[in-house]
Amino acid sequence: MRQILISVIVYGLVALSDQQCADYANYQNTLCQCVKGYYSTDPSTIVCQQCPGNTTTSVNQQNISDCNVCSGRLYYVQTPAQATQSAVCAKCPSGSQLFSPPSLQPGESQDQSACNACLDGYYLAQVPSGSGASATAAQCIQCPNYSSTGTVGIDIQKVTDCKFCIQGAYLAAKAVDGSAICQPCLEGVTAQKSSDIQNASNCITCQAGYYLDIYDNMLGAKCKLCPTGTFSSLNRSGIINCVACQKNYYKTQYAQVNIAATCLLCPTGSGNYFSSSQTLDISSCNICLSGFYMTQASKKGLSPAPAQCQQCPDNSTSNLTALINSISSCTCYDQYALPLSSSQKTCQCKPGYGGNVAIIPNSVGCKPCDPGFYSNSGQCTPCPPGTYSQGTSNTSCTPCGEGQFTSNPGSSSCSNCPIGSTNTNGNIGCKCYDLNSFSWSSISNTCKCKANYFGDATLSTKSLTNICQKCLNNGISDPGAAKTQANCKSQYQFSELHILEIILISIFILI
Ligand SMILES: *[C@@H]1O[C@H](CO)[C@@H](O)[C@H](O)[C@H]1NC(C)=O
Ligand SMILES: *[C@@H]1O[C@H](CO)[C@@H](O)[C@H](O)[C@H]1NC(C)=O
Ligand SMILES: *[C@@H]1O[C@H](CO)[C@@H](O)[C@H](O)[C@H]1NC(C)=O
Ligand SMILES: *[C@@H]1O[C@H](CO)[C@@H](O)[C@H](O)[C@H]1NC(C)=O
Ligand SMILES: *[C@@H]1O[C@H](CO)[C@@H](O)[C@H](O)[C@H]1NC(C)=O
Ligand SMILES: *[C@@H]1O[C@H](CO)[C@@H](O)[C@H](O)[C@H]1NC(C)=O
Ligand SMILES: *[C@@H]1O[C@H](CO)[C@@H](O)[C@H](O)[C@H]1NC(C)=O
Ligand SMILES: *[C@@H]1O[C@H](CO)[C@@H](O)[C@H](O)[C@H]1NC(C)=O
Repeated sequence: MRQILISVIVYGLVALSDQQCADYANYQNTLCQCVKGYYSTDPSTIVCQQCPGNTTTSVNQQNISDCNVCSGRLYYVQTPAQATQSAVCAKCPSGSQLFSPPSLQPGESQDQSACNACLDGYYLAQVPSGSGASATAAQCIQCPNYSSTGTVGIDIQKVTDCKFCIQGAYLAAKAVDGSAICQPCLEGVTAQKSSDIQNASNCITCQAGYYLDIYDNMLGAKCKLCPTGTFSSLNRSGIINCVACQKNYYKTQYAQVNIAATCLLCPTGSGNYFSSSQTLDISSCNICLSGFYMTQASKKGLSPAPAQCQQCPDNSTSNLTALINSISSCTCYDQYALPLSSSQKTCQCKPGYGGNVAIIPNSVGCKPCDPGFYSNSGQCTPCPPGTYSQGTSNTSCTPCGEGQFTSNPGSSSCSNCPIGSTNTNGNIGCKCYDLNSFSWSSISNTCKCKANYFGDATLSTKSLTNICQKCLNNGISDPGAAKTQANCKSQYQFSELHILEIILISIFILI
């Protein structure tokens, strides 16, 4: 009795201490420590953050750079962890896995040849080879019909080594070569591994998440899936064992005889890293799911509250998080979108890019503006006349230089004004220096003397503006046709005579 009392007190103390630790941390050796796979600078107050991308840590880590190994045996360290970044894990190729967890030094990485063994249900046809980028993993070939070699090894095997059955199947017969002929158990049931012939009655173990409903002498265990939101451990009998809540659910009631625990889905955007069977309230919804950012942490105590999670803006997303963060932790799907912030709450192409932002992850939306265009507002706009942009993704247009012009919008270069002229009017055109020159046009883009003048207008300069001279003796010429007086044609008097004639006739009529 005394001992029980002491145990209760000790348990109470531990439980009390546990409550002083942040979520995903345990009270150990007089301090709060994040559990394996999690890190936090202060696990007594700051919820431990899960290592990203299938990386993990040992217990009691503080920094994302401690997420330096891959969890399980399906992944190998492709890029080592850095100061502010976890390791990057890559999945072993088809059917292969690591034989044993590697002991890597910080900064060390692995190549595909680290994947030196095969998954359950595969046999090893060829050992790994090479190194670095040309490394190959063990070549693993699937055993036939639910069969398995029953061992994970690093030595070469043959298809006839598939003498056992994979989890969830039983050994119904043996082929002549000794390999197994397997039959699947009912859903959620596993047979004990055997090299002897079995029948369905050997399917006796309910998988995690299922509970034993009844056992049939012929058909074996009949396992039922735990009710929505609830979960059981391996090989449990009766619905009363659906005691835990699945990830992203919280518990409001413990399981009882014939009744599973009551687990409700965490409110919009909130969730948890793994199922907790301890907390009996909504405060276990303590992280924000991918696509959300946290505005307020969950609250324990008398008025428990879930983490407050806001949806990332349209066409952006975020990673799971246990930290209070801002809208800037949401990333637009489009790699050429402006970063989100409290002043940029929608996904919009960044300056130099235009179009519609990508609406699904890893797709292309914003495109660099073509030469002749610019953008500072999400749309590529043609450069106005008088300016140009060279190359792609320009954020502004440059005015044409001295003596240059563009008359049209969308120019990627400027044209030179003709000799004898200068650019004018905001560089949209040119003006010939000569006061008697034919008016400049972008089509001909030359300077020439106007009609009935002779000379070379291209010789005029800013300070010499009267090269073009009037043809003498009322001589005539087309614009630019007469370079010298000799090129001026003598005037045909027809039109003056004609006018005189009209005047005389008019006088005659009046009389
Ligand atoms: C981690 O591994 C799981 C299971 O293999 C996979 O579904 C998931 O996408 C992986 N996560 C990342 C971030 O790679
Ligand atoms: C993590 O550790 C690295 C050095 O190992 C340091 O540069 C970095 O600032 C640390 N990050 C945090 C969040 O403490
Ligand atoms: C294994 O499966 C193949 C096709 O999936 C089938 O043809 C063959 O008969 C099966 N073998 C046994 C022993 O059941
Ligand atoms: C199934 O195998 C068990 C032994 O594992 C045996 O007692 C039983 O009679 C077998 N049932 C049938 C239908 O063959
Ligand atoms: C599951 O439970 C049954 C009956 O209690 C037992 O025979 C079997 O060995 C157990 N399986 C495992 C994998 O523990
Ligand atoms: C999520 O995390 C991964 C790896 O840490 C990172 O590469 C990716 O950019 C993140 N995604 C978002 C939307 O933050
Ligand atoms: C985001 O994508 C949707 C389509 O899913 C689109 O209708 C919407 O305009 C986009 N939002 C922004 C801010 O670009
Ligand atoms: C256009 O942008 C490029 C760089 O992207 C720059 O080198 C160039 O000067 C810009 N041109 C104009 C006309 O703004």
